[in-house]
Amino acid sequence: MSATLFRAPAPYVPLPARIAVLLSGRGSNFEALAAACSAGRLPAEISLVISDRSDAPGLARARERGLFAAGLSVKELGGKAGLEARISELIAERRADLVCLAGFMRILSPDFVSRFPFRILNIHPSLLPSFPGLHAQQQAVNYGVRWSGVTVHFVDSGTDTGPVIDQRAVPVFSGDDPDSLAARILPVEHELYAEALAKVIKGGWKVEGRVVVFP
Ligand code: GRF
Repeated sequence: MSATLFRAPAPYVPLPARIAVLLSGRGSNFEALAAACSAGRLPAEISLVISDRSDAPGLARARERGLFAAGLSVKELGGKAGLEARISELIAERRADLVCLAGFMRILSPDFVSRFPFRILNIHPSLLPSFPGLHAQQQAVNYGVRWSGVTVHFVDSGTDTGPVIDQRAVPVFSGDDPDSLAARILPVEHELYAEALAKVIKGGWKVEGRVVVFP
């Protein structure tokens, strides 16, 4: 049996949980999380949305919802270290307890990740460890798998390598292309992210080796 690395109290964080969302693009997963908060399906509130692209549609969607939203420029902040330092500051200023990556197209440094152990979640459109990194749906179609899916996992310093929180399978049909598969996967992402985040917030789970064990 693997050693217990971490035990989450119940609840894991004070309720309602304060969530920081990091995104780079359209922000449909952010919207699904925000909708789950508003509908009372998640005991949480989005305390800030940060994007490394000031033109990200997700940022505009956050502002339309009246949320605190910050577009950061890696160039203006003097590179990746400056960007991450500003993200950390904003997370502290807005007192966020958990960070949800939702289509954030940057690899966070080991230094940043180590500041938030078991507090950063990511969603990935495949059944990890298959097809990590970019273009997961394209990778699945090219490989010829019959099933792909969605993974929500804790972020460690690798690319899509952290402990799995939850997964859901989605079929791949002959004739699928990356777009048709992505369209089948996306609604499952929207459901699973809120469900997985709710389980994390509820607490009482532990991490043994790299296995997250829920009560
Ligand atoms: C999603 O497919 C997510 O799994 C991946 O990036 C995409 C982001 O989409 N990490 P959206 O911006 O949430 O609509």
